[in-house]
Amino acid sequence: MSVVTLTVNDELVSAQEGQSLLSLLEELGIQIPTLCHLEGLSERGGCRLCLVEVEGSNRLLASCVTPVQEGMVVRTHSDRLLKYRRMILELLFAERNHVCAVCVMNGHCELQDQAVNLGMDHVRYPYLNPDLPVDASHERFVLDHNRCILCTRCVRVCDEIEGAHVWDVMGRGVNSRIIADLNQPWGTSQSCTSCGKCVQVCPTGALTTRGVTVAEMEKQHDFLRWILDGRNKKQWHY
Ligand code: FES
Repeated sequence: MSVVTLTVNDELVSAQEGQSLLSLLEELGIQIPTLCHLEGLSERGGCRLCLVEVEGSNRLLASCVTPVQEGMVVRTHSDRLLKYRRMILELLFAERNHVCAVCVMNGHCELQDQAVNLGMDHVRYPYLNPDLPVDASHERFVLDHNRCILCTRCVRVCDEIEGAHVWDVMGRGVNSRIIADLNQPWGTSQSCTSCGKCVQVCPTGALTTRGVTVAEMEKQHDFLRWILDGRNKKQWHY
């Protein structure tokens, strides 16, 4: 694999051809906010929080799905990027019902963490306040569509790690929903192995485990991330 040279935040750096910008930034120790990205899973480029400025491009690019290129000039932090990242978070908060004070994952939510990290302290857009169902048909887990940000981590971990292919996305735009087995109640799914990986990778309180404390869930999340991280590194060296 050949090496390319590019400029990141005024520094000349080298990268492997085909490598994503985000993975290069991680190697360089440059922190970029992300939500749909999870080490060890394929990239979706859905949340757009990892936006960067690339000279010559008239739009901001999602670094997780943008490969490095020879001669690229990249800027990862600027007032403009911060403005757009905050706006993306505000739109996510406005689209569904992220009322942190009454969410079981309050204090353990990546969406909430990003809002705090990026200084998003209010939402300028009208809340859509959708009245979405809660699927409590599974004996061990609960799916609350009101908290879902459609990052599809659950879909990808189920497809790529568990191989069960339970989850999918139905509908378009604001009407999109995560569905189990062609839109059946989760509890009746024939393909679900009840492994709980989807719950462990959920960045919000959309997928949760019944009767388990948040601290316990956090431990499960950390364990799966450790496995995914190891899997990714293994692939990287081969
Ligand atoms: Fe890149 Fe979501 S992390 S678009």
